[in-house]
Amino acid sequence: MSITYKDAAGIEGMRLAGRLASEVLDYLTPFVKPGVTTNEIDRLAHDYMTQVQGTIPATLGYGPPGYVPYPKSLCTSVNHQVCHGIPNDKPLKKGDIVNIDVTVITKDGWHGDNSRMYLIGEASIAAKRLCKVTYEAMWQGIMRVKPGVRLGDIGFAIQAYAEKQGFSVVREFCGHGVGQKFHEEPQVLHYGRPGTLEELKPGMTFTIEPMINAGKRDIKDGPEKDGWSIVTRDHSLSAQWEHTILVSETGYEVLTLSVGSPAIPAFVAEFVAQNNPAQVLVSA
Ligand code: MF3
Ligand code: CO
Ligand code: CO
Repeated sequence: MSITYKDAAGIEGMRLAGRLASEVLDYLTPFVKPGVTTNEIDRLAHDYMTQVQGTIPATLGYGPPGYVPYPKSLCTSVNHQVCHGIPNDKPLKKGDIVNIDVTVITKDGWHGDNSRMYLIGEASIAAKRLCKVTYEAMWQGIMRVKPGVRLGDIGFAIQAYAEKQGFSVVREFCGHGVGQKFHEEPQVLHYGRPGTLEELKPGMTFTIEPMINAGKRDIKDGPEKDGWSIVTRDHSLSAQWEHTILVSETGYEVLTLSVGSPAIPAFVAEFVAQNNPAQVLVSA
């Protein structure tokens, strides 16, 4: 398969999917507290998607070749879990950090894919710094998106920012094109070399979702042996944030924004003013 470029109707479909995906995370936020289990979060999200929004949880039953079907309506990756953690009956406790990754499918078949980090109670300074730097690393990539830029420029910016802070970038998982399919071309690496790989063109929609480790970049299968959970090999903390992005005629549109989205880092406005004044800085 190849990259799909969305037309005006596709872009409208993706805008709705993106907003709804973000609104699921808004809805979950007040529940993500010490004592809640990730299964309870999964149930809340499942019911909100299917009964309130009329969306379908894209992860439920999702099974690309070589994988067992994913059994839950979202992913919850706690502490040294890197990604694809399967919700379970263990309560979250003070000091944990957890990534919640939600993908909805709208009634018209469009996918919105996004994730955020949550601090459970008061997290350590190191954990807070990892979550903040990972959020900023994602935005270092997003703010450079415009026609003519290449995916290698995006990956390089993310990697340079994360490594400058002493963190490492997971290589085995990447962002991806998204549309009427959950995962489509292109692959969006979170590392790379400027001027390489696919050139961005209007109508492309893809995710940027860096996984950043406090320690070394190496990963392994989680001890659950459930076919999905991935952890850091050195057991260091790992964080991830994800947005779905549209390449517009002049820059980018973040599709997965809603009222509860965290504030955009201050450096984004500065970069955009310097480098792409045509870009409208959207906030929800
Ligand atoms: N939402 C994840 C992503 O960002 C994919 C999860 S697939 C699952 O691409 F099956 F693990 F849920
Ligand atoms: Co994704
Ligand atoms: Co996701």
